[in-house]
Amino acid sequence: MRVLGIESSCDDTGIALYDSADGLLAHVLHSQTDTHQPYGGVVPELASRDHSRRIVPLLQQLLRQANVDPQSLDAIAYTAGPGLMGALLVGACFAKALAYAWKIPSIGIHHLEGHLLAPFLEEPALEFPFLALLVSGGHTLLVDVKEIGHYTILGESLDDAAGEAFDKTAKLLGLPYPGGPALSALAKQGQSNPHFIFPKPLANKPGLDFSFSGLKTSVMNAWKNTEHSEQNKADIAFGFQEAVVQSLFIKTKYALEKTALKRLVIAGGVGANECLRQTFESLVPSLATQIYYPRPDFCTDNGAMIAYAGYARLKQSKPDGTLATIVHPRWPLDSLSK
Ligand code: KG4
Ligand code: ZN
Repeated sequence: MRVLGIESSCDDTGIALYDSADGLLAHVLHSQTDTHQPYGGVVPELASRDHSRRIVPLLQQLLRQANVDPQSLDAIAYTAGPGLMGALLVGACFAKALAYAWKIPSIGIHHLEGHLLAPFLEEPALEFPFLALLVSGGHTLLVDVKEIGHYTILGESLDDAAGEAFDKTAKLLGLPYPGGPALSALAKQGQSNPHFIFPKPLANKPGLDFSFSGLKTSVMNAWKNTEHSEQNKADIAFGFQEAVVQSLFIKTKYALEKTALKRLVIAGGVGANECLRQTFESLVPSLATQIYYPRPDFCTDNGAMIAYAGYARLKQSKPDGTLATIVHPRWPLDSLSK
């Protein structure tokens, strides 16, 4: 089965082609970083306009790269939510129009299901069930994944998502958008400094929820009360990253103990963070768990994960079968069915 995947839920336009026999045939991505950078965050209206501008040339580029005839496609998968309403509508309308023109079915995919299944693109050994730590710009979730569509949320952030905390803290330190990669690059120049050891909220409390907004406030106070030298800034970035990674690690370890699951998937944009990967890897023996990640560019938003999720869904359920374009800006992951 050959599935075209279209992602446009936020500020990346991604298109990819997945073939069940040959794997990923091609993927292309346009990131809107330059568009949103002057505003320090994503401007929804600019995001939808840029998706509209880029989506047709991107598809042409993908078809050239994959060197396939659209006649050979079996279905089109698109992100139907959650995300920005206008941005989602661009991808969904484009997918529906292509499906109509090419006389093939289309299927709407939950963006977070795309993230959760992304490791399957390149990890043939991965099997259900597994525990997933999903850490993106909008979500921080610990999910018990029994099989496709059978998701139980064990814990989540009560306030900011981990990626959001990275972005807001980076902004506070005067780093460019998007803050996550910039802050983690700066942290590499920093070191553990006793003045900048930040709290890990909820880490010592029972339960599997996270909280990151207090951490942001602690960083703000530390930065306000210290000399604004490059070394202090890097040490603060180091301390902040350490606190986030440790908070994620403590709760994930607890969730693994509680569920006795032997496989852990780390997905979503923050999953690309090197410090996070090193911390989890160094503790594999104590976790007694195998860890699976998508490759770093498939941790952040992309079309490949949507193409794969489309294939996985179509293996077991019917496509939409309608021309109505329905998107869900808000869409709880655990409301999905098999
Ligand atoms: O999954 P994603 O691309 O989009 C959402 O679905 O939200 O995640 C984007 C988030 C942003 O907050 C970004 O700053 C963060 O992931 N991020 C990182 C890194 N790369 C991306 N955070 C920390 N370290 C990174 N290397
Ligand atoms: Zn995402």
